[in-house]
Amino acid sequence: MKYRKFGKLDWQASALGFGAMRLQIIDGNHGNVDEIAVIKMMRYAIDHGVNYIDSAHGYHRGNSEIVIGKALQDGYRSKVKVATKLPCHVVNSTADFDRCLEEQMERLQTKQIDFYLLHHLNRLVWPKMVKLGIFKWADKAIADGRIAHFGFSFHDHYDLFKEIVDSYDNWTVAQIQYNFMDEEFQAGTRGLQYAYEKDLAVVIMEPLRGGRLTVPPENVAKIWEEAKIQRTPQEWGLRWVWNHPEVSVVLSGMSKMEQVVENVAFAAHSQPHNLTAEDLALIARVRDTYRAMGPIDCTGCRYCMPCPNGVEIPRIFGWYNEAVIHNSPQRLRSYYSDPNMLDKSERVENCIKCEICVEKCPQNLPIPELLDKAHAFLTAKG
Ligand SMILES: NC(=O)c1ccc[n+]([C@@H]2O[C@H](COP(=O)([O-])OP(=O)(O)OC[C@H]3O[C@@H](n4cnc5c(N)ncnc54)[C@H](OP(=O)(O)O)[C@@H]3O)[C@@H](O)[C@H]2O)c1
Repeated sequence: MKYRKFGKLDWQASALGFGAMRLQIIDGNHGNVDEIAVIKMMRYAIDHGVNYIDSAHGYHRGNSEIVIGKALQDGYRSKVKVATKLPCHVVNSTADFDRCLEEQMERLQTKQIDFYLLHHLNRLVWPKMVKLGIFKWADKAIADGRIAHFGFSFHDHYDLFKEIVDSYDNWTVAQIQYNFMDEEFQAGTRGLQYAYEKDLAVVIMEPLRGGRLTVPPENVAKIWEEAKIQRTPQEWGLRWVWNHPEVSVVLSGMSKMEQVVENVAFAAHSQPHNLTAEDLALIARVRDTYRAMGPIDCTGCRYCMPCPNGVEIPRIFGWYNEAVIHNSPQRLRSYYSDPNMLDKSERVENCIKCEICVEKCPQNLPIPELLDKAHAFLTAKG
């Protein structure tokens, strides 16, 4: 295992972290975690040097934290740091913060959460958390020892990311989605570098786009086959993220023992700058090939924003493209209908076809027409 600087802390994190959101389950039931198998996997990872586990209040309907608590018995707790998250979209008072935190400490069988993160910050939930006095509460929970360090996980655009980083002096961790497809998406490379410069540890989620990069379509698979050194798409994907010196931990959601064994082995080669110029050019070709499969040529530059009627144009196009590229419409359709991800006021129904966005788009996209297409796709059944 390789270890990396973790922001301002005098502690080194393993380059690979165990993401506990996609654990092995029984009978396809997301809440029914296969405890025996998962405990084996987590302990294998820890025995091979993994020292960071990531969970959240809602993962596997609460059972992710419970199984971690069990896996960390028999002397394992002291070998790892545990990160878990406050479910920001459901809390409405500081009493709710306390209730969740205490429930999580009990599930995890721990007297202190090493890294407590605000879950899934975006433009909808962030103002609420500030209004509820989250910083004062966090300072208190740190002072009374229930939390060792505070942070947040993030899913929105770079400007908001920067605002959040700058809003509090006591952040230790920022968790962002990052992979070779998402360099300019959400916090992206700019966010990674900004947080790193501010001495925050940057933890990466979805390094393989939730696993979708491990099953390339034929045209992408052909490009991977041209590599001088043959590697699986998952190894290329993880190596690309590790190539960035600003990254502290790459979380992988590992749902099978073979994946744990494989990813731990990949992590032995996880030092920054491990890819050659030739490797990076190959990955860029893979990225371009995937992107060309998207139905809308939107680069996510956000020049079209703000829409005078509040429509979240780049987000909707991004979901539409992602659903088509990876042939995974269900997940993106659920995002489109989730009010925690997209407010009613941000949906396509609010477009009045004023075309102000069309004038601002550097790609000259016929945005209102494309919004209608995206809406039809994202609201279709199935
Ligand atoms: N805070 C947030 O809002 C948030 C959001 C997303 C994720 N996260 C955290 O970040 C962690 C990592 O994100 P992620 O789970 O999306 O990571 P990911 O690495 O992008 O995707 C994980 C999936 O990739 C596949 N995979 C991983 N290693 C593989 C291997 N060696 N061979 C073949 N397939 C492999 C598996 O798919 P199959 O299971 O289909 O085999 C696995 O479930 C999560 O587990 C969670 O802890 C947090």
